[in-house]
Amino acid sequence: MTYPATTGEFSAASGPDPHHERSAVIDLEAIRHNVRRLAAAASPAKVMAVVKADAYGHGAVPVARAALQAGASWLGVAHISEALALRAAGIDAPLLAWLHTADSNFGAAVAAGVDIGCSGWELERIVAAAREQERPARIHLKVDTGLGRNGATPEAWDRLVGEAVEYQDQGLLRVVGIFSHLAVADEPERPETDEQVAAFREALAIAEDAGVDPEVRHLANTPATLSRPDTHFDMVRVGLGIYGLSPFDGTTSAELGLRPAMTLRTLVSQCKEVPAGQGVSYGLHYRTREASTLALIPLGYADGVPRVATGGPVRVAGKTYPVVGRIAMDQMVIDLGAEASGAALQGAEAELFGNGADGGPTVDEWARAAGTINYEVVTRISPRVPRRFINEDESAGSGQAMAGAPSKAGAA
Ligand SMILES: Cc1ncc(COP(=O)(O)O)c(C=O)c1O
Repeated sequence: MTYPATTGEFSAASGPDPHHERSAVIDLEAIRHNVRRLAAAASPAKVMAVVKADAYGHGAVPVARAALQAGASWLGVAHISEALALRAAGIDAPLLAWLHTADSNFGAAVAAGVDIGCSGWELERIVAAAREQERPARIHLKVDTGLGRNGATPEAWDRLVGEAVEYQDQGLLRVVGIFSHLAVADEPERPETDEQVAAFREALAIAEDAGVDPEVRHLANTPATLSRPDTHFDMVRVGLGIYGLSPFDGTTSAELGLRPAMTLRTLVSQCKEVPAGQGVSYGLHYRTREASTLALIPLGYADGVPRVATGGPVRVAGKTYPVVGRIAMDQMVIDLGAEASGAALQGAEAELFGNGADGGPTVDEWARAAGTINYEVVTRISPRVPRRFINEDESAGSGQAMAGAPSKAGAA
């Protein structure tokens, strides 16, 4: 799924900018900055920008373009359908899709020059597609080194490699890559990563002995890219980091030199003065302690804000307030307290999270409030929230550092 991009100014004749009511503002200069930061950490290994799930909710096509501008040389997605959408948008960079079902369209992948991850069962399907398309398939053999998801088991690896080599000799495919995925790289002190690296090296040796000469061997995700150079091999596959978020508990984006790229913001829908004891939202689980002003924030779980995240932060007029009462489908409430100025905040900018650079609310705080991880918070922001892309032009440039701070630019 892709989202409409807004770049131009709306004229009075066309009515109010719909992105102004509520939007997820995506700072493409932040994406480029993060890709450069990760590329420096990975060097000399190449960078695959992981843009599955609509680039973790950020918008696959604009993010893919920005990542390629900033030095990523590959793109990665889960589904072939996601890869085909990128091709349809004119993106012709090397592109890998790794999660398939019996109904996946391998023929379309081969025809579009999409690289296909292969854990075993897919091989015959891929070869059939190559015959049908009269074009060799490009595949990356995947070995399960311990995560227990897809990938061939070590016991099945020899056979898979042998069969792939036979098909390669027949000109039906090319083994472009060999890869695996890490289970605990976000906890660098755990020993299982060492075991996975050793298993990956063993699988590579078996493949090389069988005559496979892959262009790219790849294992590392964002946390491994940042903490384990021994996992880099020829290429790293980075997702979370390019969105500027930290994969490590207790380490901030800023500490890693990353800039969160998404700002989720809207306008205060209504402010009203209520007496002490006013119940708020379904279930009446919150009551005002004193006469105060309640501000209605028009975002809810239909927009992807987790329903369980009561207490999540919302910044209005420079001050951050926790959400009180239940988050509903379309809306949530903050209690501005007894301040007389409260009613004046109707129509004010409300920010749920942004780049955090000026002490504003962050994705990580929402993840804590919801009992989940930052990956999930951004990925679930729903299609009902228009994406607005800023700093699309590369010349908006690295020199501007935070000049494109989405919390401000997005409010324009
Ligand atoms: C196979 C694979 N590689 C790389 C990534 C990127 O991981 P991260 O977002 O931690 O960088 C993912 C994401 O889950 C993945 O599934």
